[in-house]
Amino acid sequence: MSDAETNVKKKLYIETVGCQMNVLDSELVVGKLRGEGYELTDDIRQADTILYNTCSVRQHAEDKIYSALGRVRRLKERRPEVSIGVLGCMAQKDQDLILKRAPFVDVVVGPGQLGRVSELLERAKEEHAPQMAVSLPRSGGSRDTVTASFAEYDPLREPAMRPNPFQAFVRIMMGCDKFCTYCVVPSVRGPEQSRPPDVIVAEAQQLAHQGVKEITLLGQTVNSYKYQEPDGRHTRLSDLLLRLHDIEGLARIKFITNFPNDMTGDLLQAVRDLPKVSRYLHVPAQSGCDEMLKRMKRLYTVALYDDMLARIRETVPDAAVSSDFIVGFCGETEESFQKSVRLVERARFKNSFIFKYSPRQGTKADLLFNDDVPEDVKKQRNNDLLAVQTAISREDNRRFLGQTVEVLVEGPSKTSELGEDGLGQLVGRTWCDRIVVFEGHERLVGSFVPVAVDDASAVTLFGRVVTTEAVSAGVPVAW
Ligand code: SAH
Ligand code: SF4
Ligand code: F3S
Repeated sequence: MSDAETNVKKKLYIETVGCQMNVLDSELVVGKLRGEGYELTDDIRQADTILYNTCSVRQHAEDKIYSALGRVRRLKERRPEVSIGVLGCMAQKDQDLILKRAPFVDVVVGPGQLGRVSELLERAKEEHAPQMAVSLPRSGGSRDTVTASFAEYDPLREPAMRPNPFQAFVRIMMGCDKFCTYCVVPSVRGPEQSRPPDVIVAEAQQLAHQGVKEITLLGQTVNSYKYQEPDGRHTRLSDLLLRLHDIEGLARIKFITNFPNDMTGDLLQAVRDLPKVSRYLHVPAQSGCDEMLKRMKRLYTVALYDDMLARIRETVPDAAVSSDFIVGFCGETEESFQKSVRLVERARFKNSFIFKYSPRQGTKADLLFNDDVPEDVKKQRNNDLLAVQTAISREDNRRFLGQTVEVLVEGPSKTSELGEDGLGQLVGRTWCDRIVVFEGHERLVGSFVPVAVDDASAVTLFGRVVTTEAVSAGVPVAW
């Protein structure tokens, strides 16, 4: 008798690291496995199948998974019937190396092959041998052949799988063709492909029908989105936003991550004119020094980035802009680092994600340049840049004191559990993506509420819910 017939559900444990693409991939893999008789557990000791959805963007992300595999080795020794899988970007990058370092792993599945996870888990059991499914390397054939080996994996969406029923990710692009010299993503996620707009709109409609209020469109360079119909017509991100804006039930649309060169006027106008579109633009600068940007092959200069910021401020003055920076990239002098500091000061980002350069095998930077900034200097620059950014974030957040902001309530705040009466500390985000914490009832989750801001730290606004009557009576609502 099969497990389904005896109704014994196989227990699945999954850990996910990396970016939002991985969070979405995990949701989709879990959704499919649930349809095949698995149920989720958050206790690894109870699991029949243990999956790691991995990231290779920095060494630290890989180390985390290899040490988790080290810990799971003993569990597998005790219970050899447990299946262990390594999915995602590190599976694509390391391939056989994973089986060499962790020979007890049963399946290794790259991000372009995720549709095959359950079939491979079964085959590994039947054949008592590890199974691997990865896509072609970027040099492994014609562009079409390589692209085809990164299969689209966006099956029908299952509402029960989302951590929050009101929010969902929607992939609009796969892969990346920018080839920044430090970055592993183009090789592990494959060639850039834009999904057809009709398919994206249908998926968003389905999500709205399931009760989703907020969608976040995902792409490595989401604003490079471009889809050409057979008759030659193009759809750009701004056109797509316009179509998604019409979907009944959807209340908020976000998109991440943007590439500076593709921040075109039509997109900024769409953000300005479409009220459902979040006033939040994540546009990583990576460095404030032209020599570094050239070495990184970022395809823009600091002047162009400054010009882009000026266009954002002119078209959508209330938008919040955030950035990523890499410190300690090959050849970064104190002088070049100070240029990043000055860019942060000038740009007044809402926040910046700051990373120490981590050499990635197979990338141009690893082949051509020396990783010549010592670790302690990288660390110091990371701290210094973060301190400058944090002071700016705090100052900017304090501008909201005394103002009322409209918040989409996401759920209980990280540190709090709701009481039996449903009351407790809730968290949500404003239209410019600022985090707001306030007291409230759980029935507010998934709705928009006006919150008067009483206090502010660098990352969080604190406040209290005010009545909608107060708002209609003229309490000003800020973005
Ligand atoms: N597609 C996005 C970024 C994806 S990776 C974009 O282009 O903006 C997320 C961030 O990780 C990057 O913005 C960069 O700041 C950082 N990153 C990428 N490769 C890195 C490396 N080798 N070392 C350190 N940080 C890196
Ligand atoms: Fe990596 Fe650059 Fe592509 Fe972003 S744009 S994913 S940093 S190669
Ligand atoms: Fe990491 Fe892959 Fe995302 S390398 S950052 S999980 S695309």
